[in-house]
Amino acid sequence: MSDNQNNFAIAILAAGKGTRLKSKHPKVLHEIAGKPLLGHVVAAAKHVVPANQIFAIIGHEAGLVRAAMASTGIEFVEQKEQRGTGHAVLQTREALKNFHDVLVLSGDVPLICKETIERVLAFHRESGAAMTVLTTEPADPFGYGRVFRKDGGRSDEVERIVEQKQLSEKQLAHREINSGIYAFRVKSLFAHLEEIKTDNPHGEYYLTDIVKILADAGEKVVALRADDANEVLGVNTRQDLAQLDAQLRADKCRALMNAGVSIFKPETCLIDADVQVGPDTVIEPFVQLLGETKIGSECRIRSYSVVSNSTLGNNVLLRNGSIVDQSHVADGALLGPYCHLRPGSDIGEQAHVGNFVETKKAKLGKGSKANHLTYLGDAEIGTGVNIGAGTITCNYDGVKKYGTKIGDNVFVGSDTTLVAPIEVGSGAYIGAASCITENVPEDALAVGRGRQVNKEGWAKKKRTEQKKK
Ligand code: UD1
Ligand code: CA
Repeated sequence: MSDNQNNFAIAILAAGKGTRLKSKHPKVLHEIAGKPLLGHVVAAAKHVVPANQIFAIIGHEAGLVRAAMASTGIEFVEQKEQRGTGHAVLQTREALKNFHDVLVLSGDVPLICKETIERVLAFHRESGAAMTVLTTEPADPFGYGRVFRKDGGRSDEVERIVEQKQLSEKQLAHREINSGIYAFRVKSLFAHLEEIKTDNPHGEYYLTDIVKILADAGEKVVALRADDANEVLGVNTRQDLAQLDAQLRADKCRALMNAGVSIFKPETCLIDADVQVGPDTVIEPFVQLLGETKIGSECRIRSYSVVSNSTLGNNVLLRNGSIVDQSHVADGALLGPYCHLRPGSDIGEQAHVGNFVETKKAKLGKGSKANHLTYLGDAEIGTGVNIGAGTITCNYDGVKKYGTKIGDNVFVGSDTTLVAPIEVGSGAYIGAASCITENVPEDALAVGRGRQVNKEGWAKKKRTEQKKK
């Protein structure tokens, strides 16, 4: 295919509102497996042609769709009013004028894969057709346009496509459906596209009407059956979203297990499409691994942990209920239970972050420990540091944030408050319950609290007086 790859573009229908989802957000930005529907289609398209040969036809909330897809580098064509799929494709006339063929994909048919796109294209080329329709025969054809072939169904050639609402009583049981994926010879497509009329229940320009128009004009229209009916399922309702999401996630778990990852009760886990996990890592029930997360090997992710857009090294243990967001955790670190790593946390090798500890933009050096009830924000903490229970970095004065710097091998006693900006030198020791407002020199002891006073017999005397009353 590569010899004339430049002659071939991909257009993706993505301008529709998605009325059946009852959503104010554009349909193609609804997510399955943690990625917008359109993102899945674009990813498949990018496996076949370079991004600048991919044209998304956008309209409803075009700005949002454009922004969500900006990083993919694809091109956009606007359909200002959504007057049907035929009208949508018409908008690409100028953009496609130098291409020989165009493959049309639907932004709401997200499971399409590279191999199928290539099969459609090869079949289209070999048959010398003006148009190729990818079809399938799902268990329930309801809602799809039906594909009627010539010679009572025996031919490769197609006579016409009839939309669900226009099916006659007799045609209702016809099972071969239109996947919404097509290849066209660009010249033939635009020579006839404007002949489509709006004489249908929605008053729209149906792209599917082009089949009969081309066939009547003596052009060849062929159909190719998809190997896997699941791959061309369209998303029209929230139920469809849930079904495809579940299917993709099950596939993802299966692929990870095949690559050596243990997942117990995979049906309870949510693992996004782009997550990577190394072999011999064990994932317990009810775990969520989201976004661009990368987890090393020999890790254990215990139940109810949620890791999003983060990197974990090897041999990391996440005890139950650990939340890790946009953070980095090095080899052998031990987290949780119930810790919260907020964006920008960087946990060093063998470091510990324990029960009810929250970190944000905090670097914890190798072997350092913050095991209980602590907040570390905007902090840079060296190696071998012990952060006692209940330590708080006071990093915010209501307007600005300030940093805390703690050197290597510091011992911070329990219930210490560190009022930033503040620096604690290496090897220093901070007495428990201190409020530290001044920098602490290396190897010093800092104690910042009121002195204890013991009043002998005071309590006993008080009780006696209270009894008299
Ligand atoms: C369409 C096909 C149907 C096929 C099904 C497969 C038509 C008329 N029917 O039906 O034969 O079985 O897909 O999933 O084409 N869109 C625009 N601009 C518009 C209207 C729609 O860009 O003006 C986009 C939508 O965003 C969507 C795609 O085109 O991504 C398909 O539109 P949709 O309304 O979902 O068509 P279906 O009813 O599913
Ligand atoms: Ca659809």
